[in-house]
Amino acid sequence: MNLRRPNVLSAQAPASGLCFQRLACESAERERPLQMDPIAAFEQYEKEALAALESAADADALEAARVEFLGKKRGRLRDLQGLLGKAPPDQRPLLGRRFNEVKNRVTEAWQRRKQELEKPEAVRAQLDITLPGTPLRLGRRHPLTQTMDEFKDIMGRFGFSVAEGPELEDEYHNFVALNIPEDHPARDPLDNFYLAAATTATKGLRPDGGSIMLRSQTSTVQIRVMERTKPPIRIVSLGRVYRPDTMDATHSCMFHQMEGLMVGESVTMAQLKTVLRLFATAYLGGDVHIRFRPSFFPFTEPSVEVDMSWRGDWLELGGAGMVDPNVLRAVGYDPEEVTGFAFGLGIERFCMRRHHITDIRRFYENDVRFLEQF
Ligand code: PHE
Repeated sequence: MNLRRPNVLSAQAPASGLCFQRLACESAERERPLQMDPIAAFEQYEKEALAALESAADADALEAARVEFLGKKRGRLRDLQGLLGKAPPDQRPLLGRRFNEVKNRVTEAWQRRKQELEKPEAVRAQLDITLPGTPLRLGRRHPLTQTMDEFKDIMGRFGFSVAEGPELEDEYHNFVALNIPEDHPARDPLDNFYLAAATTATKGLRPDGGSIMLRSQTSTVQIRVMERTKPPIRIVSLGRVYRPDTMDATHSCMFHQMEGLMVGESVTMAQLKTVLRLFATAYLGGDVHIRFRPSFFPFTEPSVEVDMSWRGDWLELGGAGMVDPNVLRAVGYDPEEVTGFAFGLGIERFCMRRHHITDIRRFYENDVRFLEQF
C-alpha cells in the first residue's frame, strides 16, 4: 500500500480525464516496488531516478526530482528501505550493499545535474568561451578613397567645400561650356567614351542635341557649380574620369581627379600657387615646391602644367590656370567683376607617390594583399 500518497485521487485530480489517468497510472507504478523483488525494485528505482534527474530542465524541476527520489522524509528511497526491512535476514547484507550502491549513483547523478544547471548557458552548451574566437576580418577603405577623404579634409581647412557632378555627362558640360569648340581634337570620338545607346535614347531631349559620354575631366563640375551658384565660389570636386587609353603602369582608361575652383573679386594666380603648395605640403609633409610650366587649356587663360618637387624628384600633377573669360560668360558671370582660378590634379599620382606604389593598376585589381596594406 502506498502510504506516501493516500488514495485521494478522485478528490484531487483535476477535471481533465487525461491527468486523472496519468495520476492513476503513476499510483499503480508506485505500488509496484512493494510487490516486486527488491533487486528489481532497486533497478526500477534507479532507472526512473536517473531519467528524472537527467531531464530536469531547471533548478525547480531538479529539486522536485530530488525530493521524490532522494527525499529523507517521504521519498521513494524510504519505500525501498522498507523493502529491505522486510527481506529475510540472510539476504539483508547483500541487499543493503545494493541499496547503498543505487543510492550513491542516484545521489551522484543529482549532484552532477545540479552542477550542470548552475553553469552558465554557454558552458552547458559545451561552448568554451576561453578559446580564441574566429577573427573578425575588418574591412577598410580603398587607398584611393582614403586619399580622397584626406584631400577633402585638407581643402576643407582652406575653405573649399565639396561639390559633386555626374560621371555620365553631356557634351555641353564636358566641352561646349568649357570653351572647347566642335572641331577641337579633345572632342575626337577616339579620345572619349561616347555612349551610342544614350545618344539615341536622349535624342531630342537635350536642348543642344548633343551626345552623352563618360566625362573625360572633372572640369565639368566647375560649370555645374557656377550655373547654380553666385560668386564667390570655393569648391573641390573629386571623382572618376574616363579616357580611352592603353593600360600600363602609369595609364588607365579610368582614373580620379580633384578639380578645384575659386572665383571671387580679385582671385589671382599667386593664390593658386599658394593653395597648391599648401595642399601638397599638407598631404605629403615636408617641403614641397610647386612649378608652373606654360601650357594651354581652352577653359583657362593663362594655363599652366603644375609640377611639384618632393624629396628631390619632380612630378607632374595636372593642369591649372585662370578661368577663361569665355567660361565665366557662359555661366552668366561678368569677367570684369570676378576672376577665378581652376586646377585639375590626378589623385592616383599623389597616392602613388606617397606610398611608393609603382603601378597604377594595383588600385583597380582589388587584390586584398595589396589593399590590406593601407
Ligand atoms: N581638366 C584638365 C585635364 O583634365 C585639367 C585642368 C583643370 C586644367 C582645370 C586647367 C584647369 O587635363
